[in-house]
Amino acid sequence: MKKRLEVNYNDSWCYDIVFHNSYEKLGEELDKLDLLSRKVCIVCDSNTEQYLEEVIKYSKEHVAYVDSYVFQAGEENKTLDTVKNLYEHLIKAKFDRNDILFALGGGVVGDLVGYTAATYLRGIRFIQLPTTLLSMVDSSVGGKTGVDFDAYKNMVGAFHQPKCVYMNMSTLRSLPKEQFSSGMGEVIKYGYIKDAPFYQWLKDNHDCIMNHDFEVLSEMVYHSCLCKKEVVERDPLEKGERALLNFGHTLGHAIEKLMNFKLYHGQCVAIGMVAAIYMSAKRGMLSMEELKDSISIIQSFGLPVGVIGIEVNDIIAATKNDKKMEAGKIKFILLEKIGCGIIDSDVTDDEMVDALEYIMKL
Ligand code: GLY
Repeated sequence: MKKRLEVNYNDSWCYDIVFHNSYEKLGEELDKLDLLSRKVCIVCDSNTEQYLEEVIKYSKEHVAYVDSYVFQAGEENKTLDTVKNLYEHLIKAKFDRNDILFALGGGVVGDLVGYTAATYLRGIRFIQLPTTLLSMVDSSVGGKTGVDFDAYKNMVGAFHQPKCVYMNMSTLRSLPKEQFSSGMGEVIKYGYIKDAPFYQWLKDNHDCIMNHDFEVLSEMVYHSCLCKKEVVERDPLEKGERALLNFGHTLGHAIEKLMNFKLYHGQCVAIGMVAAIYMSAKRGMLSMEELKDSISIIQSFGLPVGVIGIEVNDIIAATKNDKKMEAGKIKFILLEKIGCGIIDSDVTDDEMVDALEYIMKL
């Protein structure tokens, strides 16, 4: 298994993503952060509390004091209220600017703890300990942090880079099937927007991936992080290229919201990707065979490709409320070809209606 990737932005920030099969090596990474006289608060949710004891065990010799904070799992708790409760906890426990937070969990924990770290005392350090496929391959890398505001996803946030991303790959073993597939939505995305050989590799290794062959999963997570690292190093603040990572998210976020977060994020991204691939095919950039092939590949990884029970017009209205709007225009990610995403701000309502009507029939 490959062990380490360095994310480095002009030396102004730099951190390692490390890949292991347990938390046993966590101390080695903590020693690099010089924490012997510092307090740590390990923040997790009710799903990832199961790892808390082990993380405490492998941290306690390497920091001055270990504290923990658990909140109720669920996207509905990714709110400023939960952040406020965490601030209160940190203030009572006298956390100062040199102390550190650990985000132990999936995307909700990582985003919320990252945002707390970005804002508490004008910014303290944090490390990411992702425990889901989705957080390993996407949300733990690149410093996007934030919470939802009412039904607006990730509406309040900040860029704040972690000091380390420590992957314990064995947490994938206990991941529920639908959550695993949700992560696959973000994995396949890299193939579509950046990396045709990786897309082919995913097809070739389909059975091993779905059977959770550990070596193959490790290679897949490593390669996804490599794709993400390269994009965020070139464009950390999403001034350009990083927007490609939003492939499938434009309609996906709207569907996620209208389905009241009953579908997982990666499932909604998958549906959004099919709609964007359809639009790309309609514009003549992809063939109808590539569209059909994409639908069957996405489905083969356990992901939905269509949605029913919500209105086309509502999806379009919700899309126009998303933070991905720029100067009143929706920034869409389309495919020029498989492995090459492009940013397009000229997608019309008619194109969206056509694509949404298509996915509603799938
Ligand atoms: N999840 C997309 C990004 O980090 O830019």
